Amino acid sequence: MTKPIYVLGGPNLNLLGTREPEIYGHATLADIEAMVRAHAAGKDAMFRQSNHEGELIDWIQEAGREGAALILNGAAYTHTSIAIHDALKSISIPIVEIHLSNPAARDAFRQTNYVSPVATATIAGLGAQGYVLAMDAAQHLITSGG
Ligand code: DQA
Repeated sequence: MTKPIYVLGGPNLNLLGTREPEIYGHATLADIEAMVRAHAAGKDAMFRQSNHEGELIDWIQEAGREGAALILNGAAYTHTSIAIHDALKSISIPIVEIHLSNPAARDAFRQTNYVSPVATATIAGLGAQGYVLAMDAAQHLITSGG
């Protein structure tokens, strides 16, 4: 049986579609999931979102045990969470960091990033389409042994 690709989302991503659409776009998380599933037909993907740091950490650990790769939008925890950084360091599957916006081009407080140093790759600033590219990147990393 093939292992799923975990697609985990952090705080406030449940509000996509209505949350600051000028920054994050009009697609909801369900729209993004449908786009990715249509693109990656036949591939097993496990989509989850939580507003809670500990729950995300539990899922990162689960992805390390049961997943083939992890696509993570840590949202604001990207900029604050040493615990998520440590959880990512503890797993050995490919990690693709994803952001809808490009945090590097935004507020000063978004310039601290605890995910990028432990991610295999980062995709940012491409909106919902970035998730489709992240799925391709994860597939590539799995097949290339990355
Ligand atoms: C985000 C960027 C983060 O800085 C922000 O806190 C988010 C969303 C993005 O997808 O662009 O919640 O991760």
